[in-house]
Amino acid sequence: MSDPRTILVTGGAGFIGANFVRQRLAADANESIVVLDALTYAGNRTNLAGVDPERCIFVHGDIRDTALVERLLREHAIRTIVHFAAESHVDRSITGPDAFIDTNVNGTHSLLKAARTVWLAGTGVPHRFHHVSTDEVYGSLGPNDPPFAENNQYQPNSPYSASKAASDHLVRAYHHTFHLEVTTTNCSNNYGPFQFPEKLIPLMLLHCLHGKPLPIYGDGMNVRDWLHVDDHCRGITLALDKGRPGEVYNIGGENERPNLEIVQRITASIDAAFAADPSLAARFPTSPAANGNPCWSLVTYVKDRPGHDRRYAIDPRKAQSELGYRPHETFETGLAKTVAWYLANERWWRAVMDGSYRQWIEHNYATR
Ligand code: NAD
Ligand code: DAU
Repeated sequence: MSDPRTILVTGGAGFIGANFVRQRLAADANESIVVLDALTYAGNRTNLAGVDPERCIFVHGDIRDTALVERLLREHAIRTIVHFAAESHVDRSITGPDAFIDTNVNGTHSLLKAARTVWLAGTGVPHRFHHVSTDEVYGSLGPNDPPFAENNQYQPNSPYSASKAASDHLVRAYHHTFHLEVTTTNCSNNYGPFQFPEKLIPLMLLHCLHGKPLPIYGDGMNVRDWLHVDDHCRGITLALDKGRPGEVYNIGGENERPNLEIVQRITASIDAAFAADPSLAARFPTSPAANGNPCWSLVTYVKDRPGHDRRYAIDPRKAQSELGYRPHETFETGLAKTVAWYLANERWWRAVMDGSYRQWIEHNYATR
């Protein structure tokens, strides 16, 4: 493994990337990070507020700018790339797939080309390209199917998962053809601080606070394997430290739950928070909980997501045995921390929910 003193984190101003940057800086005082992020609607400088600017340089730029990436690798003597940058929301990939191909496929290829040029020139230098991917590339499971293992067939069903699958294949090809030292992690659904409120958990949480309908797609019985973002970030660090080049590791929470159960737990948490803290009723007067009513009353069944995958689940045995990976958070501890974070960080979520996001979400729900 290369000397990880300065690493390049793409998409480090997004949800998982920002949590990863914070975790790494806290864990190793000698490490510096260069964040490369295009600041799309999902990226936000405030996600990195408070990080030491001496140890975390922010570069506002696009991963498709190969020359920029080459310059950053050379100028900062970077030998490790952790690649998060992507378009990540399945619903957006249905309404507008082009950006997913541009960023997830062409953007990943641009990074691979830059890494190959800089790291493999001449006799080459020790290096690592870590690619952050998703369990969605494996498709959808039936109720009794075994969970996704690393050698499962790729069967992506949405433009998002197809674009991630294509990027996984490019990463694999650069290893086999050019001997670029790569690792890939395919992870299940994350939740936690700084998650943009278009994804299930923060969206439901904020709708409870505002007294807005909680839109359940289809029958609400689609199953996801939920993982706290800190545990995902720990898994990536383990893959960097112990992962074998060319290998893929699936990371999950062993925490499969149907969407209705997730929403039920969120509504119960918000109800309990209002009961325990009377100041919440004044802050969020339109929430049913402000009047002692259950937030569950906001549940609204809406038209299903086209092509909606029924079930994801991760077989974690390879990451456990080779990397020593195990999640630290249970869903109970992780969700309690997440609800507390969103209640304590109203300024953050009000700031990220700007006009463009609101317009998109209002259009999306109006036409369902
Ligand atoms: P996110 O949408 O919150 O953040 C993506 C970040 O990438 C943003 O900061 C955005 O500005 C940046 N970005 C987008 N296009 C860019 C470009 N062309 N150049 C530079 N930066 C660009 O995403 P996330 O949820 O943090 O996901 C991060 C990665 O993890 C993605 O690759 C995603 O596929 C993968 N993943 C996510 C989950 C999940 O549950 N969120 C689970 C498994 C894997
Ligand atoms: O599995 C990993 C993937 O998890 C990541 O690769 C993606 O980047 C990430 O967005 C996530 O994809 P999902 O589509 O599973 O997450 P999302 O939060 O959009 O939806 C979770 C489930 O909840 C899914 O079954 C759809 C449903 N849902 C979602 C929203 C936003 C609803 O029922 N209502 C909603 O309003």
